[in-house]
Amino acid sequence: MKKILIVGSTGQIGSELSIRLRSIYGRDNVICGFYTPPYPEGFFDAGPTAEINSLHIEQIAEAVKKNKIDTIYNLVAILSATAEKHPKLGWDVGIGSLMNCLDVAKEYNCAVFTPSSIGAFGPNTPKNQTPQDTVQRPNTVYGITKVLGELVSDYYYERWKVDTRSVRFPGIISSMTLPGGGTTDYAVDIYYKAVQGEDFICPIQAGTFMDMMYMPDALDAAINIMEANPDKLVHRNSFNVASMSFDPEMIYSSIKKQYPDFRMRYAIDPLKQSIADSWPNCLDDSCAREEWGWHPNFDLERTTADMIKQLKIKLL
Ligand code: SER
Repeated sequence: MKKILIVGSTGQIGSELSIRLRSIYGRDNVICGFYTPPYPEGFFDAGPTAEINSLHIEQIAEAVKKNKIDTIYNLVAILSATAEKHPKLGWDVGIGSLMNCLDVAKEYNCAVFTPSSIGAFGPNTPKNQTPQDTVQRPNTVYGITKVLGELVSDYYYERWKVDTRSVRFPGIISSMTLPGGGTTDYAVDIYYKAVQGEDFICPIQAGTFMDMMYMPDALDAAINIMEANPDKLVHRNSFNVASMSFDPEMIYSSIKKQYPDFRMRYAIDPLKQSIADSWPNCLDDSCAREEWGWHPNFDLERTTADMIKQLKIKLL
């Protein structure tokens, strides 16, 4: 049975990953590291927690030692658009947390999962069916931290046998906790507006395609890569994973089937648009499928149906 520490457990991914991990490995075997509020409802009653500023390595080490942790999920990051506004913060948080988790893992013999992203690609990466191994020259701070994360995680594996593994997440769509400061956030915000009966102002131009994924598939990816048979892994950091790619018009049409009066207008955010333009349209995830059996369950239509169902419960 694994003993897991989630560093950054209160964000968009962590708040749902913690619930899923506890359902698999047991409530007391998943320690939720928290630092920045707000905290999810019922957070402190749901299982063991530890206050961890991930830039303080001794706080991570203490939690690992005290709880005999063998697996660290490092989910701390400043998303792409916010990191472009505050580059030093984006760099310090992304790299600081990563290096601290890797060094603690090296000392206490832990496996480490740190998400990479479609942001690890750049303007001269092939845009369609982006291969697993290809040009990665991102022009955003967020992307640079993600490429460095991939490289240094592989380095810790090769050099010190730290069991590092990860996936390149697309934009993640979810109903429990809002993302913040990401380029792909529009694909979450649009559902909130539809369910709340408001118009949606879209910051990304029609015709801009990006990979997206519904949270249950993202959780499967994060858990299944850490459970994969290491003998079958040719790659480690990080695997392309994909489930759907769409532009704003496609998600709008999908929502309009349930809300025919829903209206979307455009007010392009130049920063987010330039980031989106530098990212791939859709990734080729065949290596993840072959090496550890990755397969998504949610396409756009299933995602829309479930998001609307969940948001009606949450908001109405
Ligand atoms: N969702 C992230 C962002 O938009 C990409 O990984 O920054």
